[in-house]
Amino acid sequence: MAMTLGSPALPDLSARILEDPSEKLWALETRSSSYVLRVDGNGVLRNLFWGARLGGGDYADAAFAAGSEEYPGWGGPVFVEAGLKLTRADGVRDVVLRYHSHRQPDPDRLVIRLKDCNEEIFVNLHYRVFEDYDLLGKRVAVENRTSQSITLESAQSGVWRLPPADSYRLTHLAGHWGAELRLAQQPIQPGMIVLDSRRGKTSHRANPWFAIDEGGRADEDRGEVWFGALAWSGNWKLAVERTDAGDVRVVGGMNTFDFAYPLAPGESLETPHFYGGYTSGGFGQASRNLHRFTRNEVLPDRASPQLRPVVYNSWYSVYFDVNESLLKRVADRAAPLGVEVFAIDDGWFGERNDDTAGLGDWHTNPEKFPNGLGPVIEHVNNLGMKFGIWIEPEMVNPDSDLYRSHPDWVINFPGRPRSESRNQLVLNIAREDVKEHLFQTFDKLFSDHKIEYVKWDMNRDITEPGWPGVAPEAQRTLWVEYVRSLYELLDRLRESHPDILFETCSGGGGRVDLGIIARSGQIWTSDNTDPLDRLKLQHGFSLPYPPKIMMSWVTDVPDSHNGRTTSLKYRFLVSMMGSLGLSVALEKWPEEDLDYAQEMIALYKEIRETVQHGDLYRLASPWQGETTANQYVAEGGGQSVLFVFRHSQQFRERIPPIRLMGLDPNASYLLRPIDDKLSGGARAVSGAYLAAHGLALDLVGDFDATAVVIDRAN
Ligand code: DGJ
Repeated sequence: MAMTLGSPALPDLSARILEDPSEKLWALETRSSSYVLRVDGNGVLRNLFWGARLGGGDYADAAFAAGSEEYPGWGGPVFVEAGLKLTRADGVRDVVLRYHSHRQPDPDRLVIRLKDCNEEIFVNLHYRVFEDYDLLGKRVAVENRTSQSITLESAQSGVWRLPPADSYRLTHLAGHWGAELRLAQQPIQPGMIVLDSRRGKTSHRANPWFAIDEGGRADEDRGEVWFGALAWSGNWKLAVERTDAGDVRVVGGMNTFDFAYPLAPGESLETPHFYGGYTSGGFGQASRNLHRFTRNEVLPDRASPQLRPVVYNSWYSVYFDVNESLLKRVADRAAPLGVEVFAIDDGWFGERNDDTAGLGDWHTNPEKFPNGLGPVIEHVNNLGMKFGIWIEPEMVNPDSDLYRSHPDWVINFPGRPRSESRNQLVLNIAREDVKEHLFQTFDKLFSDHKIEYVKWDMNRDITEPGWPGVAPEAQRTLWVEYVRSLYELLDRLRESHPDILFETCSGGGGRVDLGIIARSGQIWTSDNTDPLDRLKLQHGFSLPYPPKIMMSWVTDVPDSHNGRTTSLKYRFLVSMMGSLGLSVALEKWPEEDLDYAQEMIALYKEIRETVQHGDLYRLASPWQGETTANQYVAEGGGQSVLFVFRHSQQFRERIPPIRLMGLDPNASYLLRPIDDKLSGGARAVSGAYLAAHGLALDLVGDFDATAVVIDRAN
């Protein structure tokens, strides 16, 4: 029977979660989306709809009332990817989930409790409405209240189901080291597309984010996009499946590959959070919603967002050859440029002269730092900068004192070959003794020194995932417990040292996801710092993740990755579109470059609030042509900044005027170009002109770039 929202059963039209108890129906409402659930006559919880806000429509109308099972257990005729799959101690593997009860802990949260049809196996589906960001959060807790053990083989965070349509297209991120987070798009044909990581970390290869539109109808600025991001930094999986009925399901959570998680009677398992959103404003709006959500609800500084500092990092300048006198000389040159954090990267500890030794021995190398780190820190602080340091806690070189004293601390299958990668092994941080050792080591390092910034690296995949010391049936929990321990370590260290800004890194962007982002203030995007490649990598990063946390360094030329030479201006402007850093041989720079860097850093500080806390509009994509243009609009609209890059020029073609977005058509704006590339130069124009006509820019040749600061005048 059709029921309208105006019926007395659903009285509060402004509520985020509308409930009709007589129908066991719920509508989760954000500003522009509705997500409708109902329990059918057999007690099955069904997803009826996810899409544009129905706004008082017929929530239980027969036209869409069939829906599909919201969170199926694997049992009975379930052939789609299930939410839950398990084996009982007696070998029975069937699980049939039915509505049990529900509660609404607060106006934004709903918990629906499902139960196996026969036994006390419960699944709590947790929903949270993030109204302002057009997002919903899901997570699941599975409880074993039977008297026998069960082993979970799949416990997914949630299922997102899109309504049936003729064709759908999947957008995701793919790549490899130095080329991660690149745009990938493909039609969703009948069958299943699996995006996943089996590497114990998020991976360079794929990223736990998806966006789906109907048959390629959406573009950057328009069209319906359904999207989601999983907050998990270990093995994960997104199974994107087009069913016989033509709808699309995205089932996501911890990877089912090599997954077995025993639950003794009374135990439960909580899954990672899985966020999903809907917009009719194209990929751009999907990104802006996720960016705002991440800044205000996920990041460690979410309660009072802080601007990210300008960082100098030693890596690309000297690699492992850091020492006291060199760093002091470099610091002398960095401070006048306006650098705010001076960070030593790899090479400061143990016998760390290259990547073959020292990981695990977190004490200062006495040849490089005969007086410890103290004098460098003092020097850096006296110059007005904060001091930062690189660590890689999860790893050990076999050639280290730590490994020699605790060879049993590494992840391995006893008696089997074990792969080294970058000459290192992975510490089993799921072990309490290892975790405690690491906490004590770094707690001491951070307490003994005035360290205000930490770059936490992780330079290999996890292989041979053995956990000697636990029962064979518990061995595979390593995939889960490793990540939980990582989170716990980061949380404890952050709690003990609240003034440290943590940046995380995994050989560049090998561990970028909302789980790690909840614990680190920024992310090292990629080891590839060539600015042309970066335009594409940063484009991909910005699809789910906010520019504020996208660490981007200016490095020297020719580029260490591909030998390309670009101007200092080009490199600065690319890096200024995120969180700005420098990793260059400053002691070799000519005066004119130092002056230029000083100017650009001053400019960055003027616009960084707009870049870091504003809205991003990707006006021209590096994937579509020879121009990339990104515009940032400050919260409140007082300032905007336009960055434009010409990759190459042929046939003396000019780039078309760049039309701006997100401005008030009735307001007047002052244009402040950073150079002479803006046709017409500095002047005042209306928002309407900027949107309709746009700015003509005289970018010529290969690798030309410019920026225009746009200040609202009235
Ligand atoms: C990989 C990181 O991505 C680099 O920035 C650098 O920190 C090296 N590790 C150091 O070993």
